[in-house]
Amino acid sequence: AKDLEFPPGFKFGAATASYQVEGAWNVSDKGVSIWDKFVHDDPATIVDLSNGDVACDSYHNWERDVEMAAELGLDYYRISLSWPRILPTGFPNKISEDGVNYYNKLIDGLRAKAIEPMITLYHWDLPLPLQELGGWTNPLIADWFEDYARVVYTHFGDRVKLWLTVNEPIVICDATYNSGVSAPGYLSPDIGSYICNKNILLAHAKAWRLYDKEFKPKYNGRVSLANHLLWFEPYSEEYTDLAELALQNSAGRYSHPIFSEAGGWPPGVEEVIAKVCLEKGYPRSTFPSFSKEEIELVKGTYDYYGMNHYTSSSRRGADSLALRRRPRPTREDTLNPEGLRKQMAWLKQQYGDLEIMITENGLPTYDGLNDTTRVDFYKTHLEQVLLSIHEDGVNVTHYTAWTLMDNFEWADGYTIKFGLYEVDFTDPKRTRTPRESAYYYSLHFCSSALLGLSSASDLT
Ligand code: FCB
Repeated sequence: AKDLEFPPGFKFGAATASYQVEGAWNVSDKGVSIWDKFVHDDPATIVDLSNGDVACDSYHNWERDVEMAAELGLDYYRISLSWPRILPTGFPNKISEDGVNYYNKLIDGLRAKAIEPMITLYHWDLPLPLQELGGWTNPLIADWFEDYARVVYTHFGDRVKLWLTVNEPIVICDATYNSGVSAPGYLSPDIGSYICNKNILLAHAKAWRLYDKEFKPKYNGRVSLANHLLWFEPYSEEYTDLAELALQNSAGRYSHPIFSEAGGWPPGVEEVIAKVCLEKGYPRSTFPSFSKEEIELVKGTYDYYGMNHYTSSSRRGADSLALRRRPRPTREDTLNPEGLRKQMAWLKQQYGDLEIMITENGLPTYDGLNDTTRVDFYKTHLEQVLLSIHEDGVNVTHYTAWTLMDNFEWADGYTIKFGLYEVDFTDPKRTRTPRESAYYYSLHFCSSALLGLSSASDLT
C-alpha cells in the first residue's frame, strides 16, 4: 500500500458520544437518561465504580474540543446529541433552550474552523421516561424517535449535512439485553433483544423518511445509521457456512432490511433463530417478523453505509449466533487489520456498490502519551482502506478515528483509553494532551493546517 494515495475529497474525522464526554448530567433542565440511572443505581456495574457525571466535561470544555479538532486538521467531527438534554421528558412537549444552545455553540464553533459536524441522534442515552414505557421494546418508540428527529432536524438541519440516526443497534439490542452490563441493565436475551432489533430499524426508517421528505429538499444532507460490524473468518474451511451465518446474523440482521434490494430479514436467519427458540423450549419463535408494509418502510432508507469496525475473529462454534457482550478490540484484532478490508468487500458483494463511511475505528492502549501501538493500529488499518479503494474498488469516502479523547468507556469506566488526546481525569479542568497518535494521524492524514501540532512530533 506504500505508493497508494487517498483520492482527493476523501475525508478524515474523529468521533465522540454525548454520555461519554459531556458530563453536566443534571445541569439546567436536562432530563435523566438510562445511563445516568444505571451508573447511579449500582456503581459496581462499572469496573472502576466511576460514571459519566463529569466525564471530559465537554459541556463546559467544548471550545477546547473544537480547538483539538482544528489542531488535528480534521475534516469533520462526529458527535452525538443527548436526547434528554434536548427533550427533558423524552417528548417534544418541552424543548430545552439550554440543550439546544449547547449544541448550537458546538456546531457553530466547529463550522467557524471549517470542521464539518457529523451528528448521531442516538448514542445510547435514552430519556428515562421512555425506558419506563419499555424503551426500544415498545413499538411506539419508532414514532417517539421520529418526533425527536424532527426537533433535531428543525434546529440544526441548516448547518449539519451528515447525519446518523442510531449508533450500533446491535450493541443497543443484542449485546445489552444479552449481558445486562449496559443500560438499561435488563437481561432479555431471546426476547427483548429481538423486539428491539425490529423496533430500532423501524425508528431509523421513520427518521430517515422524515428527513428525506421534509428536510432534504431544503438542506440536502445525508442520513444513515452506524452499524457495528464484526468480521467473522471461518476457522477452517469446514466452518465457512457457519462464518457466513454469523455475518448474516450480526451485520445482516441490521443491514439486509435497509440495504438489500429485497429488504426484510436476511435469508436463513429467521429460520435458524426459530429453530434455536424451539430447542430452548419456547413454544414459538421469539423473533418478530416484518409485515409487507414494514419491509417497504425500512428498505432503501439510507444515503450511505455507516460502518463501525473494531473486531475480526474466527468462528468455529455455535456461539456465532449470540452476541453476548459488547465486542471489544483484542490483540487479535490489532494483528488482523485485513478484517476491515474483507468486511468492506463483503458489504459490496452483499448490497452492491454503496458509498461506505467508516464511522468508527480505534484501539485502546496502555502506553500513555507515547502510544506507538495505536500509531501502528491506524497505520495498518488505513493501509487496508487504501487497498479497499485501489484493489477492490470499494467506494469508501470517510474514515473516523474513535476517539478524539479518552472518555467514559461505558462499563469499563475510565480504565480503557482510546483517545488521540489523553485526558487527565484527576484534574478538575480535564486537561487534554495530544498523544503520538494524534501527531501521526494529523501529519499523515488530516489537512495540513496542523495549527498547534506542527513542532512536537519526530514521527516520519
Ligand atoms: C463502540 C461505541 C463507542 C465506543 C467504542 C470503543 O462500540 O460506539 O461508543 O465505546 O466502541
